[in-house]
Amino acid sequence: MLWIGIESSCDESAIAVVENIGGKNVIMDSRCITQAPLHKPFGGIVPEFAVREHSKNLPILLKDMISSGSLNLEKLQAIAVTEGPGLMASLLVGNSFARGLALGLGIPVFGINHLEGHLFSPFIEREQKLRFPFLGLIVSGGHTLLARVDGPRDYHKIGSTIDDAAGEAFDKVARLLGLSYPGGPEIEKYAQLGNPHAHTFPLSLMEKNNFNFSFSGLKTAVKIFLEKNKAMLYQNQQFLFDICASFQETVAKIIEQKTIAAAQSFSLPLISASGGVLANKRIRELLEKKAFEKGIEVLFAEKKFCTDNAAMIAFVGALFYALGLPITKSFDVNPNFSL
Ligand code: KG4
Ligand code: ZN
Repeated sequence: MLWIGIESSCDESAIAVVENIGGKNVIMDSRCITQAPLHKPFGGIVPEFAVREHSKNLPILLKDMISSGSLNLEKLQAIAVTEGPGLMASLLVGNSFARGLALGLGIPVFGINHLEGHLFSPFIEREQKLRFPFLGLIVSGGHTLLARVDGPRDYHKIGSTIDDAAGEAFDKVARLLGLSYPGGPEIEKYAQLGNPHAHTFPLSLMEKNNFNFSFSGLKTAVKIFLEKNKAMLYQNQQFLFDICASFQETVAKIIEQKTIAAAQSFSLPLISASGGVLANKRIRELLEKKAFEKGIEVLFAEKKFCTDNAAMIAFVGALFYALGLPITKSFDVNPNFSL
């Protein structure tokens, strides 16, 4: 069965082609046009720009896939599209595009929860590793959550952020430091040159059996520290590098400690880890090391599938369909979807 996935929940316009070959879902093509440079000067996403770009980019991506030969519309059998959560207007562009295409081709369109896309993305082209139950960890710009996954569509939230998502904290701290959007990759780049032990920032909600996250206090701690040492930021580059490294190390510790504690507390031998922030090398490294020490397997989404992409949407559609699960037909978008 030949699927395409369409993702437009935030500021990435993406389409992917997935084919079920011999029972395995293979990514035949996965393309994305990011709007990050456009939103950069504003320090965050401007919804009106996002909508305009999605409307322009989705047809470009589809045409490119057809002309490069990776997509044959005559053979296309189903479309999976992100239904939510995300920006209402951005979601509507992807859904209208999907429904128009499906109507024209006379094929079904299925609505997929973006969070399910992240949750299952570590299993893309590694379906043999998929077994239940596992601990799902999603750390992105909009979400930081831990869930026990007992089966497809059988999720039990263990913890989530009570304020900012980890990616949001990266973006806000980057802004305080005068770095550009998105802040995560910028902070990671400078952190490589800094000392992670130069400054101590607070780890919050670290009491036992509390699996919720809080990053707003950490961001405020960096802000207060910077206010007291403003001049240093402009005089000494090493000062900037050290703050980046110390902040990144603090986030890495919080994620590692909460995730390992949750896996142990709920006796879950496998962790699936995904979302934009988990593209971060140090955060992956620390979690992997601690998981290994505790005999827990951790599967990270490939870096290209950590940040928003359409391969994960097509993959979940194809996977759930093959498992015989009822997948909701997309008639609406839901900006506030949760797991
Ligand atoms: O998953 P994603 O692409 O979009 C959402 O669904 O939110 O995540 C985007 C977030 C941004 O906040 C960005 O700063 C962060 O992921 N991010 C990173 C890195 N790459 C992206 N954070 C830390 N280190 C990175 N290398
Ligand atoms: Zn996402």
